[in-house]
Amino acid sequence: MALISRGFFFKILAFLCFIRSSQGRNHFNTLDLPSLMKASSFSTIKHETYDYIIVGGGTAGCPLAATLSQKYRVLLLERGGSPYGNRNISYLENFHICLADDSPNSPSQAFISTDGVINARARVLGGGTSVNAGFYSRADSSFVQDAGWDAELVNQSYPWIEERVVHWPNISPWQAALRDGLLEAGVSPYNGYTYDHLFGTKVGGTIFDETGYRHTAADLLAAGNPNNLRVLLHASVNRIIFNTEQGKRKPRAIGVEFKDENGGNKHAFLTRNKGSEIIVSAGAIGSPQLLLLSGIGPRKELKKHNISVVLRNEHVGKGMSDNPLNSIFIPTKNAPKQSLIETVGITEGGVFIEASSGFSQSPDSIHCHHGIMSAEIGQLSTIPPKQRNLASVQNYVHNKYSLPKEVFSGGFILSKIDGPLSTGNLVLVDTDINSNPTVTFNYFKHPKDLSRCVYGIKTVDRILKTNHFSNFTLNGGGYPTEILLNMSVTANINLIPKHTNDSTSLEQFCRDTVVTIWHYHGGCHVGKVVDQQYRVIGVSGLRVIDGSTLFRSPGTNPQATVMMMGSCHGAAADPQGGTIDQCDEMWLGHYHEHLVCAPELRQTDDRRIAPLATLAWIVEAGSDARNHTEGEH
Ligand SMILES: Cc1cc2nc3c(=O)[nH]c(=O)nc-3n(C[C@H](O)[C@H](O)[C@H](O)COP(=O)(O)OP(=O)(O)OC[C@H]3O[C@@H](n4cnc5c(N)ncnc54)[C@H](O)[C@@H]3O)c2cc1C
Ligand SMILES: *[C@@H]1O[C@H](CO)[C@@H](O)[C@H](O)[C@H]1NC(C)=O
Ligand SMILES: *[C@@H]1O[C@H](CO)[C@@H](O)[C@H](O)[C@H]1NC(C)=O
Ligand SMILES: *[C@@H]1O[C@H](CO)[C@@H](O)[C@H](O)[C@H]1NC(C)=O
Ligand SMILES: *[C@@H]1O[C@H](CO)[C@@H](O)[C@H](O)[C@H]1NC(C)=O
Ligand SMILES: *[C@@H]1O[C@H](CO)[C@@H](O)[C@H](O)[C@H]1NC(C)=O
Ligand SMILES: *[C@@H]1O[C@H](CO)[C@@H](O)[C@H](O)[C@H]1NC(C)=O
Ligand SMILES: *[C@@H]1O[C@H](CO)[C@@H](O)[C@H](O)[C@H]1NC(C)=O
Repeated sequence: MALISRGFFFKILAFLCFIRSSQGRNHFNTLDLPSLMKASSFSTIKHETYDYIIVGGGTAGCPLAATLSQKYRVLLLERGGSPYGNRNISYLENFHICLADDSPNSPSQAFISTDGVINARARVLGGGTSVNAGFYSRADSSFVQDAGWDAELVNQSYPWIEERVVHWPNISPWQAALRDGLLEAGVSPYNGYTYDHLFGTKVGGTIFDETGYRHTAADLLAAGNPNNLRVLLHASVNRIIFNTEQGKRKPRAIGVEFKDENGGNKHAFLTRNKGSEIIVSAGAIGSPQLLLLSGIGPRKELKKHNISVVLRNEHVGKGMSDNPLNSIFIPTKNAPKQSLIETVGITEGGVFIEASSGFSQSPDSIHCHHGIMSAEIGQLSTIPPKQRNLASVQNYVHNKYSLPKEVFSGGFILSKIDGPLSTGNLVLVDTDINSNPTVTFNYFKHPKDLSRCVYGIKTVDRILKTNHFSNFTLNGGGYPTEILLNMSVTANINLIPKHTNDSTSLEQFCRDTVVTIWHYHGGCHVGKVVDQQYRVIGVSGLRVIDGSTLFRSPGTNPQATVMMMGSCHGAAADPQGGTIDQCDEMWLGHYHEHLVCAPELRQTDDRRIAPLATLAWIVEAGSDARNHTEGEH
């Protein structure tokens, strides 16, 4: 493996910094990204080989590729397209539009777990960070301890991410009301603006900047070495290729098979160096799915799909969890300004309280169903359970124009469970990598998750009754809990049958209105599928580094820690480093070098199109939405 000496490397970085700074701060419109090529441009004939092939250019994959490319030749294969120049991705105001786009090229691939909850997987460079709600908060210290990570090193690794893609929000009125309501309801102390996970109420970071422009893990690729880093888009890896003919030795991953955007088959291979590896960072659905399709998993399941067994491991696809979310809809006097998560209440009871507002009142809202962010009050729960399928949901969404105006004016308070303790599994439906596997999360199967939910709803109720919050609501004095629960049940958009006791029994409310906040994880657990160094147990040349390895969701929201894992483990994956503990010196080396350089984050062209600040908010949102719809029909 070609190792560049640290000194030489440092000189190059210093030189690059010099070039950058001499060209001025706001001179560039774009980040210095490596070129993002379509997969069809890749030619196997050139016989290029790589020290690392990373599958999945997501939240973990991008920082991993950037870090590893400092020293090694890296090929990053992402099944989706580029986030740059796509307004659905780049602007906070379009958060819900991106999620509602169910076309085959959408950056968001919808799936429905067997629990009846509508969910989404990222399908774009940057992964979850290109479609998510942007909230940034570090892991709690007990998470770091349980993971067996070096806490000091972890603390030193987060800033590399924070300098590049994280901003402080200019908090919106709805988020300020939640902050004050939380404090008034006793979720204290107030910890101010902080990335740290502390009991009480705080404002966290966000990957949206002050103009509402999204910064993503893809931006981190600009910190990579463009001469060593090859990025292919629309490259769907459908199989890891193993050398199984080594006699007694373990099967060794040597390459991958992938499809380009035209469906053409391609192959890429590792160098013959001992340290070269395939790293799977395809996310909590994608990584177990790819291991299964490559012959690593429960024998019965592989046999069922005629996949030849490379390694039997009953744990692949097991331990899938999703943090249950229940949201309370609150009608307000005026349509609140759009906001995604900025404030969080970290309660002692294992529940996190967050909020969102204003995603039901743009003219486009009327056309799509927007998951948890919509105020889609009304007809869904009147559809008999057996007929409650996607088509009926869509039909219902079509009829939204007949809804009363108030339903387009309101916000949500979200209650979600730490952990969770309930787990489920993932199994293949077929051998097509583009298909969603069947996923079950078993929300609230563990009684502790259910009791935490009840505690969370009670906390939300206390917040609603505070002076700060009741000031916002339509009738000024706040709403009786039962009425709010009733509205929230009808606003809910999962496929779970509703019950008449939903607004009288908090347990039933929790079960029937559960949705996702998309923090699903598991499927390739440490100690079961990968070892403590994230190497796939029983084979060589293969690791998994992403959300699929997690036992629980870190902190209040996972992206900070998943990006940090990518950057730090990029250093740790060094054959001379090997463990997260040992990556210490090496990682710190990177960290300081980056600190010296700290390239300015640059704006991409599309930022100019519509700065969020200049957007006029549609105050009479309900009537506007109806006018809009009438024009359409
Ligand atoms: C809508 C939404 C909102 C969220 N809000 C927040 C939030 O506010 N704060 C927060 O902290 N977290 C949030 N999250 C969660 C967070 O974004 C995810 O937990 C995190 O991004 C997961 O990272 P990952 O690296 O495990 O997977 P991903 O980031 O999903 O990366 C996996 C990548 O692999 C690619 N891939 C998959 N299979 C293949 C294949 N076979 N070949 C090639 N490429 C493949 C995918 O296209 C994807 O780019 C949200 C998530 C979603 C979806
Ligand atoms: C944005 O989303 C809309 C609605 O789903 C879709 O019609 C449009 O093609 C998307 N734009 C891009 C650039 O993907
Ligand atoms: C890491 O940072 C957290 C939060 O700032 C702090 O509580 C903890 O003590 C730090 N750990 C170490 C080992 O420095
Ligand atoms: C597996 O192979 C058998 C025998 O060739 C065939 O009958 C069966 O349909 C195949 N199953 C799948 C899922 O392809
Ligand atoms: C409620 O609103 C009124 C009028 O806008 C304002 O004067 C008052 O300070 C608010 N009260 C709280 C607790 O926010
Ligand atoms: C909500 O209220 C309506 C009208 O009062 C009632 O018919 C319905 O049963 C209630 N639903 C729940 C879940 O309480
Ligand atoms: C709510 O009602 C349903 C059906 O009527 C019943 O099965 C369920 O046990 C009730 N839930 C609670 C928590 O009482
Ligand atoms: C909706 O239409 C009515 C009647 O044409 C009009 O008076 C009103 O201003 C419109 N509302 C908006 C927000 O455009």
